[in-house]
Amino acid sequence: MDVIVAGDRAELAEARRALGIGGPASPGKAALALVPTMGALHEGHRSLMRLAGEHAEHVAVSIFVNPLQFGPGEDFSRYPRTFDDDLEVCAAEGVSMVFAPAAEDMYLPDRQVGVSAGKMGAVVEGAFRPGHLDGVLTVVLKLFNLVRPDVAVFGQKDAQQLAMIRRMVADLDLPISVVGAPTIREADGLALSSRNRYLSPQDRQAALALSRALFAGAGQRTPGEIRRVARAVLAEEPSVAVDYLVLVDPATFAEVGEGHTGEAILAVAARVGSTRLIDNVTIGL
Ligand code: PAF
Repeated sequence: MDVIVAGDRAELAEARRALGIGGPASPGKAALALVPTMGALHEGHRSLMRLAGEHAEHVAVSIFVNPLQFGPGEDFSRYPRTFDDDLEVCAAEGVSMVFAPAAEDMYLPDRQVGVSAGKMGAVVEGAFRPGHLDGVLTVVLKLFNLVRPDVAVFGQKDAQQLAMIRRMVADLDLPISVVGAPTIREADGLALSSRNRYLSPQDRQAALALSRALFAGAGQRTPGEIRRVARAVLAEEPSVAVDYLVLVDPATFAEVGEGHTGEAILAVAARVGSTRLIDNVTIGL
């Protein structure tokens, strides 16, 4: 079956009707899983689509570069927009529907109300990108309301985003199951990201320090050692400008103390040349 492309709300409603969503689903499977994206699709997104397909009869992908989640001076205008290639990826992955609205169709010109990510949205990534997580949650809630999926799939690479979306679903009683998908890496450890295409060959080489630091940290036994070893690895690469390296509780994103047991997320954000990259690993303590 061809991918149905919906460019606005009316076409989206028509696509849901054409796919029979809202009618009886197959036993044991949800009807619709959504993979929200900003396009520039890569192998990581493909893995999200495949996982979505395991959870639901139909997979929808949204492609929308959300202006609300970019701060002044960030890469909104140069963010890669590769719609035709993205459609081919979706078709090859058996996606039933692509929702690709225009910004004017998503946001009213006098928009007033949005989602607040609260205190958890002001730490770690939120401390460096004020308002970013508010913008993410606002667009994700709108996508949930418009596409009305039963399941939504997000990558673990944006670990705080995933944790905050789970929080939003719990705090606002949204009738959606959130599924987290593992980070996909190149053979040399670089986490896949749409922003990797900004990297020059030298930047790309330097960017490997992020995953190297995370893997070295993950080999340690205590929070203090994990942080110390990971920071030391990052310090060896002078062209990586670190925004943060933190070891946090996966549910709250608060820094964990020495006595912490259970899972913790070692997360890093750094600028390499003009590109800002994030990455993380989960460590059992
Ligand atoms: O992870 C992303 O690509 C974006 O933050 C998302 C979830 C699609 C919201 O714009």
